[in-house]
Amino acid sequence: MKVAVYPGSFDPCTNGHLDIITRASGLFEKVVVAVLINEKKHPLFSLEERVDMLKTVTRHLENVEVVAFSGLLADFMRQNNYSIIIKGLRAVSDFEYEFQMALTNRTLFDKIETVFIPSSSEFMFLSSSIVKEVAKYNGDLTPLVPKELVPRIMSRFGY
Ligand code: PNS
Repeated sequence: MKVAVYPGSFDPCTNGHLDIITRASGLFEKVVVAVLINEKKHPLFSLEERVDMLKTVTRHLENVEVVAFSGLLADFMRQNNYSIIIKGLRAVSDFEYEFQMALTNRTLFDKIETVFIPSSSEFMFLSSSIVKEVAKYNGDLTPLVPKELVPRIMSRFGY
């Protein structure tokens, strides 16, 4: 079975993330959304919240699974016998870092292939950081994140 892993922090999940997951789910037999457990990064949302938000917004996609991982992505891939990593590319500026990560991951586990999916043009500007910045000042999140997540994110900022 062709399984693709889509790793990230998802703090929180955006419409751009959901777009990549949706398109990948049409390309691969199964998509594993792998949420990084990274206490040092002090995410705004706990691991449980990030996983739950992703499960909520992908519940209509039968071949999508949401899991958590810690440590190196290459080790997670090897331990689970996965070989394909999906990354979304928003702009040329994403490429240098993502190319470095792709080569590092392949050096650590030589079965890994990274597949880049270009962002849809309407989400090219979008990131979790932008979502948090807009929410902090009580801005309208409806064009930025799946609508089910808007109240959860706004309430974290006291609205
Ligand atoms: O959503 P993000 O924060 O851009 O996702 C980054 C992520 C989770 C894909 C990346 O930080 C990652 O793979 N972290 C795990 C540690 C690792 O394997 N790093 C790459 C080799 S040094």
